Amino acid sequence: MNIIQNQSLKNYNTFGIDAKAKEFIAVNAIDSLIEVVGSKKDLFILGGGSNMLLTQDIQKLVVHVNLKGRAIIEENEDFVIVKAQAGENWHEFVLWCIDQGFGGIENLSLIPGNVGTTPIQNIGAYGVEIKDTLFSCEALNRKTLQIETFTNAQCQFDYRESVFKNELKEQYIITAVLFQLTKKNHAVSTTYGAIETELSKQNIQNPTLKDVSNAVIAIRQSKLPDPKELGNSGSFFKNPIISKEAYEKAKALHPDMPHYVVSENSVKVPAGWLIEQAGFKGKRFGDAGVHKNQALVLVNYGTATGSEVVALSQLIQQTILAQFGIAIEAEVNII
Ligand code: EPU
Repeated sequence: MNIIQNQSLKNYNTFGIDAKAKEFIAVNAIDSLIEVVGSKKDLFILGGGSNMLLTQDIQKLVVHVNLKGRAIIEENEDFVIVKAQAGENWHEFVLWCIDQGFGGIENLSLIPGNVGTTPIQNIGAYGVEIKDTLFSCEALNRKTLQIETFTNAQCQFDYRESVFKNELKEQYIITAVLFQLTKKNHAVSTTYGAIETELSKQNIQNPTLKDVSNAVIAIRQSKLPDPKELGNSGSFFKNPIISKEAYEKAKALHPDMPHYVVSENSVKVPAGWLIEQAGFKGKRFGDAGVHKNQALVLVNYGTATGSEVVALSQLIQQTILAQFGIAIEAEVNII
């Protein structure tokens, strides 16, 4: 086992936080992964590092899951099942699928991170979530060292949630994800307002998969910071889902508050709106800040520590609670 001591994790987390791993290993093959997990060391599993905030050094063996490969597993005239190993870069995988003419994940273009972490928080953007096309995923049981298959239903997906974040937290390591994609009659989803606006700006009426992907890329680039230029983990908070009653109460005081109906009794409120109204958009506190174009995204201007970002997130949470009576919860894993 090629274990490195005292490895900086700065290049392994999109927030660009300079925390250290006491021990670190990058794993390129299933057999090596099984060997490491079987070693009974205290482990910290690291995928693309795009949804975590490091607030301290990690006194464990950090295992960077770097399994590569994509393959077509099954196909007929209409559908294809594609398998991607956990360490594949998500956006490169999306572009590869589009190049092959496979539809279903084009709205998820340009999301940072690796394939293996996408099911954990059921990534979603512009009207599409991973649960809409995920066929199954393969995961290593950390106790039995067996690879098990989870069907879509067994993943128990919900808004930014899955079984891997809840009941099975830290019990499995996702090694590969299989997607069922369309080969023709693609159900392109452009209903998310910004996509339609972007496509009509370009005079496109019957968008191809590539057109939708390009529109999403343009929207993301205009709103969301590129982690290579400005450290961040995408949305830092989840959009809160509150009762209709709580919403009516808040709306009476804040009539412009936008919302999306989730069920008969609950609505989702954009946390970005709450944060902007509370005056945090574009604000900087040392090297930690709130992004100027999307208030849901916290950023690291260079040398912010994880604790500084957490302190800012707590200040935001307290202010929103006091001002709107709404609790907002972090989406990012705070380590
Ligand atoms: N808004 C503001 N000010 C802001 C940001 C947002 O007022 O600074 C309000 C506006 O009313 C806007 C609404 O919030 O119409 C929605 O904003 P946006 O379309 O940017 O989406 P979001 O709800 O803020 C979610 C996801 C994003 C995803 C977008 C697009 C969550 C936590 N975030 O953000 O996902 O890209 O929708 O579908 O659900 C991520 O998870 O890392 C992520 C970037």
